[in-house]
Amino acid sequence: MKSFSTFVTLLLFLLIIAGATANLQELCKQATSSSPIVTYDFCIKSLQPIRGSNEVDAKGLVGITINLSLDNLVGIINMLSDLQSKTTNQTVIDALNACSDGINRGTTELKVAQDFVSHGYVQAALTSVVVAEKSSDVCDSAFNQRGIQSPVHDAMHDPVLLCHLVDLIIQLLV
Ligand SMILES: *[C@@H]1O[C@H](CO)[C@@H](O)[C@H](O)[C@H]1NC(C)=O
Ligand SMILES: *[C@@H]1O[C@H](CO)[C@@H](O)[C@H](O)[C@H]1NC(C)=O
Repeated sequence: MKSFSTFVTLLLFLLIIAGATANLQELCKQATSSSPIVTYDFCIKSLQPIRGSNEVDAKGLVGITINLSLDNLVGIINMLSDLQSKTTNQTVIDALNACSDGINRGTTELKVAQDFVSHGYVQAALTSVVVAEKSSDVCDSAFNQRGIQSPVHDAMHDPVLLCHLVDLIIQLLV
């Protein structure tokens, strides 16, 4: 009887360990399996370098991925303000501002999503993330409307994919 309960304790212990290290490969596989946009490789390549990404569960990975998206989007906002300091053309300035506003709105919504997820409001979090995903379209049209090609079109590619990835990982929690 004693050895049986030791066995059960050991088994429980192993199960807890296995659960705690639901690893990045598994979560990336699950999250991207049915996505036509985000690949498994992108998920691994983006999140592997982040400390702790292999030790967290899906909820923890949402937090990490949102922070990474935020860092990337802030990088774009800095690019835009750099471009703004180099032009006096009001049309260009207006486009840069509209794009920057769109991205700022996206970052605000990502922070809201971070909050929603931590409180278990998964569906509400998804709605917020969609706003951030759309910031790339907002920028494209801010420039296109004024007959200018977006100078950040290519730079927006990865940040937007990261927002999609946030979306996909959140869906694992639904
Ligand atoms: C995300 O970034 C915020 C602000 O820097 C930090 O407080 C939080 O711990 C980070 N969350 C994760 C999951 O890394
Ligand atoms: C401002 O930039 C736009 C787009 O590049 C250009 O079409 C327009 O001629 C410029 N305006 C001035 C006053 O230089």
